[in-house]
Amino acid sequence: MLKGVSAKDNYTKDIKVSVDGDYDFNKVGEYKIYYTAKDSSSNETKEEATLIVKEKNNDSNSKKPPVTSNNDNEFTTSKGFKGYTKNGITYIDGILVANKTYSLPQSYGPGLTKETQAAINSMAAAAATDGINVYCQSGFRSFETQQRLYNNYSKRDGVEAADIYSARPGYSEHQSGLACDLCSKDNSACINSDFDNSNEAKWLSNNAYKFGLILRYPKGKTNETGYKFESWHYRYVGTELATKLYNNGNWITLEDYFGITSEYK
Ligand code: DAL
Ligand code: ZN
Repeated sequence: MLKGVSAKDNYTKDIKVSVDGDYDFNKVGEYKIYYTAKDSSSNETKEEATLIVKEKNNDSNSKKPPVTSNNDNEFTTSKGFKGYTKNGITYIDGILVANKTYSLPQSYGPGLTKETQAAINSMAAAAATDGINVYCQSGFRSFETQQRLYNNYSKRDGVEAADIYSARPGYSEHQSGLACDLCSKDNSACINSDFDNSNEAKWLSNNAYKFGLILRYPKGKTNETGYKFESWHYRYVGTELATKLYNNGNWITLEDYFGITSEYK
């Protein structure tokens, strides 16, 4: 009961702690217990806690490993993050990853997720108060929609060129429902390099992280993400990770952060 319990004051780092109370390890129940810390001058402080004594679980299930039945291919990335694939979808440190290495099943089609929609809405509202007007031009795209797009691009520009700006079907983050391509409401710059130097793109790059969104394909990171700079493509990851990746304006890629590749096999 003293495991992990410690006390300190402004003089002593390790003050002795004792625990007492009326409890019985052989009887199921909740017991009030008291931790007392006493320093060398006999100053005392007491904290109350609850000890819960439960029935011993002799069920054979308790000997089984934690539930992993739907998870296969558990792995650890080169930077020590734990990943797994569940129903054909890869999660690393709890974050869904879709890139050239980690694909999505053809049938996966969640639509734009609620969290993503909410983040885009809050961000657009905040941008508008700064005179920046943006909207999500392309959010969720099904496997089939992506297939149509990719086929057109690869016919037009060739596979090699298309591969660095358009994902093959099953490999687009748009199929995850977590990505949006943002466009300006005030000028025609939309999903092309004209957007790169716009006030809209600058505002997004400086503020999106506050809403849990990341600039997914930053400039000069093709060797990490597998794609050319896309000043308009934002991906929802939540504010904690987004703030880390924002890195005070020097965007880190998901690939670099997790220590993963983005390469077709
Ligand atoms: N343009 C991005 C990479 C996609 O096609 O998903
Ligand atoms: Zn996009």
